[in-house]
Formats: sequence, C-alpha cells, structure tokens
Amino acid sequence: MTRVQLVVRGGTVVDATGTRRADVAVGEGVVLGVDPGIDVPRGATVLDAGGCFVAPGLVDLHAHLREPGAEEAERVETGARAAALGGYTALVAMPNTDPPMDCAAVVRQVRELAVGAAAEVLVAGAITVGRRGEQLAPLAEMAELGVRLFTDDGAGVQDARLMRRALEYASALGVTLAQHCEDACLSADGHMHEGEWSSRLGVPGVPAAAEEVMLARDLGLARQTGGRLHFLHLSTAGSVDLVRSAKAHGLPVTAEVTPHHLTLTDAAVGTWDPVFKVNPPLRSDEDLEAVRAGLADGTIDAIATDHAPHPQEAKEAPFDQAPPGMVGLETALAVALTCLTEGEELEVAGGRPHRPEGRQGGGGAALPFERLLGLLSWKPAAIAGVSNRHGGPVAPGAKANLCVIDPTAEWVVDPARLASRSANTPFAGCRLKGRVRHTVLGGEAVVVDAEAQR
Ligand code: DOR
Repeated sequence: MTRVQLVVRGGTVVDATGTRRADVAVGEGVVLGVDPGIDVPRGATVLDAGGCFVAPGLVDLHAHLREPGAEEAERVETGARAAALGGYTALVAMPNTDPPMDCAAVVRQVRELAVGAAAEVLVAGAITVGRRGEQLAPLAEMAELGVRLFTDDGAGVQDARLMRRALEYASALGVTLAQHCEDACLSADGHMHEGEWSSRLGVPGVPAAAEEVMLARDLGLARQTGGRLHFLHLSTAGSVDLVRSAKAHGLPVTAEVTPHHLTLTDAAVGTWDPVFKVNPPLRSDEDLEAVRAGLADGTIDAIATDHAPHPQEAKEAPFDQAPPGMVGLETALAVALTCLTEGEELEVAGGRPHRPEGRQGGGGAALPFERLLGLLSWKPAAIAGVSNRHGGPVAPGAKANLCVIDPTAEWVVDPARLASRSANTPFAGCRLKGRVRHTVLGGEAVVVDAEAQR
C-alpha cells in the first residue's frame, strides 16, 4: 500500500465536482484519500488548510518566461517560482524568446531548463519560423514532442493563407492554434487604446478593430478548416460578441482574458506610467464590462495572466518607447478574487480606479468562487491538454497538483517582494483579498505558508 507522505488538513475541497469539508492525503505524487479526519502517519508532512479552500492547482495558458535570450527579465526557474506562489501548478511558456521556440531543439532546451522547477512548464511552439509570419514552423516535429499549443504570440499571423495552412496542419495533428489577434496595419504606431483617452492625451491609438478584424477572419478560417483555435488576451466588446456568436454556431473555439483587462481601463494611461502599457492595450469601461459579461455567461473560457516581465530600465522609458507587458502570475488569483468574487474596485497607485457610473462597489453579479476556479484551473487545463494531471478533480488516484487558498487573507502588492525577476506590476500598492497559502506539485509542497520551497 502506498504510504501517506503529506496531509492537507482541515480545509474545504473545491473542484469541478463540488465542495466538501475534507482532508487530503497524498503519497508518491498522487491523491490517496479525500475524507474528513484522515489520520496523519508518523513522519508525514501536514499542511494546515484551516479556513482555506483546497483546489486543483491553477493552470496559466499564457506566460512569458523570457528564457532563452532575455534572462535579465525572467528565467524559467523564477517564472515557475512566481507561478507556484500564485497557486499555479502548470503554465504555458510563450515562444517569443531568443531564439524563438520554433523547432524541436529549442522546445527541448526549455523543457530541460524546467526540470525541477516549482511548476510544470508546458512549452508552446511558434506557428511560423522565427515568428516572422512568413513560413510554417515544423509543427509536426514539435507535436511529436507533445507540444499541444502553437502561437506566434506577441504578434498575430498576418497572412490569412498561411494561417489557413497552419489550421489545416493543426487539425491533422490534433493540436490547437492560439492566436494573438492583432492586425499589424491597423495597430501600427499605436501605444494605447484608441478612444477618448488617447484623443485627450494625444497618444496614437490601437483601435478595437485591430483585434476584431483578425478574430473575425480566423473564425472564418476555423469554419473552413475545422482547426481548433484559442484566442489569447481578448480585450474588446466586439471580440466577446464575435466569440459568443461563433460558439453559438458550434465552432471549436476557446478564449481567454487577462486579470488586467478585467480590472483596469485606458484611464490609467493618464498617469503616463509605462507600467500600464500592455498589448492589447487597456480598453474602455464598456470593453471592461463586456469582457466581464463574457466571463459570466461562459463565452470566455479562461483567465490567463499574459505574465510579461520587463526590466525596470525598459519600463522607465517614455510611454511611447517602453515595451508593452505586465507581470501577473503572483497576483492573478487575488486580483480576480478581490474584483470578481468580492466585487471590490482596486485603487491603482497614481491611476484612476475603474469605476463605471451607476455601479455600487463594483456592481455586476459576483462570480461564484467555484466558477472562478474553473476559469483558472480546470478549463485552462482542458485547453492546454493536461487534464490528465492538472485541474482535478481532487480524488483518489489523481495527480497531487493542488493549491490551498485562504480567501480572507488580505495583503498589499509590493513589487519588491515578487519572486519574478521583474517588478512591472500595475497592481503595486493595491490591497488584495485572497492569498495562496500552499501549493503542492506532484505530491511535494513547493509553497508552504506563502513561502517558496524551491
Ligand atoms: O503586452 C504584451 N507583452 N503583449 C504581448 O502580446 C507580448 C508581451 C511580451 O512578450 O512582452
């Protein structure tokens, strides 16, 4: 009989099957028992989950780990540690590295860097060679290694004919293409959302149509080819409408939104702080309301961080010269809990909190905790093709990839204390409610009492 090595004690287990008070016994990397009052054998580790939820580990579909090539911003090891502290047991590493992850050799290299990391790193392969959008990357060679998601993220595939071919190959290989929807002609020279704030500030804008035009095109291509598509970081009301209608017509598409597009608007750019520069840009109040509505009605399948670390020097450049991107792995769950489940508004340092007219303390229907977990754990696990080991349910025989969440713990985001190598968080100084207490990866505690163990 397998020996119990770790017991998560006194919590409330939440997964896709429901909620119950239970201890969780773990040994040799798997869940051995889920019962109230499990005896702790001598020598076993006990993780206190009193007052906490015990959930399947979170799964991030979208993180930039910067290695190889930009190790000053992040490394696989530090990104995985940040992920574990944020409750993630798996994350998808985006291929816009240097060299890009566009062939088997680089996929293998990144996987090797991830051995022993605090979270499982799933590598996304590039769709095109060098992410240049000119020629298909060797998708079959990477699929052979188990790569399940392909994307040129950081840029969209501009050439419709090439995207059509890519979808045909993807369909034959049984893999998913994740599109960064951005028509480069429409977005060229833009640094923020095109709207009232960009006019007021005199900053060239990126119109909502830059995203929607490519999304609409790709829906046509998905229909044509039968290829599976996932849409990254959707940010506009029009995008949410397009995906809603595509799903109603039975197209095999999924979509994600980021914590920042769910909580911040282009008003924050009025601070001129490049920490609020991101691609796609922070949008209008109406767009924010629409992406929240998309989450609420199931149009949006997942919350993904788009964790995009950049060194401080780069983010201190003038707004138009600074690179776009925000770190997010360590704050995503707490931001979502605070704003979507508790329905509170954030006071962004130096910025204007998102506060649409007519709303009471955040307004809108609060997203139940179980639904939020689905958006952060089991639904992205299915999109990434890792439901066999991440996302639960928490039941005997399942891989022991878990996180323990204290829903009442309050904390203030201090960029200096993040485990990420970069500190470009837009939530600096925000008081958040909800914190990851422990994370268990493959049966081992990689975060204990909010401290990383690896
Ligand atoms: O803001 C962004 N930063 N959006 C992207 O698509 C790429 C990312 C990065 O790599 O910095």
